[in-house]
Amino acid sequence: SSNYEYIQVSEPRPGVGQVTLNRPKALNALCTPLINELNAALTEFQSSPTVRAILLTGSQKAFAAGADIKEMAPLTFSQAYTTSFIESWSNLTTGALKKPLIAAVSGHALGGGCELALMADIIYCTSSANFGQPEIKLGTIPGAGGSQRLTRAVGKAKAMELILTGKSFSGEEAERWGVAARSFATYEELMEAALKTAETIAGYSKVAVMAAKEVVNKSQDLPLRDGVEYERRVFHSLFGSQDQKIGMKAFAEKKKAEWSDE
Ligand code: CAA
Repeated sequence: SSNYEYIQVSEPRPGVGQVTLNRPKALNALCTPLINELNAALTEFQSSPTVRAILLTGSQKAFAAGADIKEMAPLTFSQAYTTSFIESWSNLTTGALKKPLIAAVSGHALGGGCELALMADIIYCTSSANFGQPEIKLGTIPGAGGSQRLTRAVGKAKAMELILTGKSFSGEEAERWGVAARSFATYEELMEAALKTAETIAGYSKVAVMAAKEVVNKSQDLPLRDGVEYERRVFHSLFGSQDQKIGMKAFAEKKKAEWSDE
């Protein structure tokens, strides 16, 4: 299972699975074999009985510098279309990954690297991280959801400017604009905070955490009224879980909840 060429997997803290993109010679450019390995690792973490939250990161220098330009350069329309090029990147977001995914971004997160980060449930970054959608400079456009997710995150005016100019934005801006949940002065602080947050989430009821992720993600797809109704249905359904009883009883007794995951 750990026989990966372009990524490393580990379980650095209780309940936390980590995927580290590890293709340093190409600044973690996201070639197809790397994405296949990432999907395989995430699938493994999803079914792991021990992993409850997942951290995705790169190196200090690069989260990921984009899709692999050298791999893409010779593609024809019919090859891209008939092989559904890039579609498998979205395995991450199609609902198969129900455990929360935190992206810890340092250095370059460009093109597909920015889009990969945007697929995570939470982004933490360094203040100096270098985000952007530079595809326009290559004569193309974002192809892994950037025009949609970045626009939802920062609004149309900023997204249009970023995507049409290809200008990058800093981690500090990413936090200010709501793309990143938090930014940190140093790489060490980033990694410690990301691990700590993953560990915190991993310490909660698995069923509640998965439900929380599911309903927040619904807000991106549903009109408000439908989203609120969906949330209420899922909220009601959690009264059928043991962990709701355990959590509320522990509160009343001023004790720490011992989750049953039932
Ligand atoms: N694809 C393939 N190789 C890449 C790459 C990419 N996206 N980004 C970097 N590399 C390679 C470089 O070719 C170089 O390899 P060699 O040593 O063999 O020449 C190596 O990584 C190191 O890169 P640099 O020498 O360029 O490093 P730098 O520090 O001078 O610059 C950088 C860093 C600004 C990130 C620069 O590498 C760069 O601009 N990269 C491309 C960024 C980009 O345009 N990304 C968007 C790709 S398109 C896309 O992602 C489509 C989509 O929506 C899915």
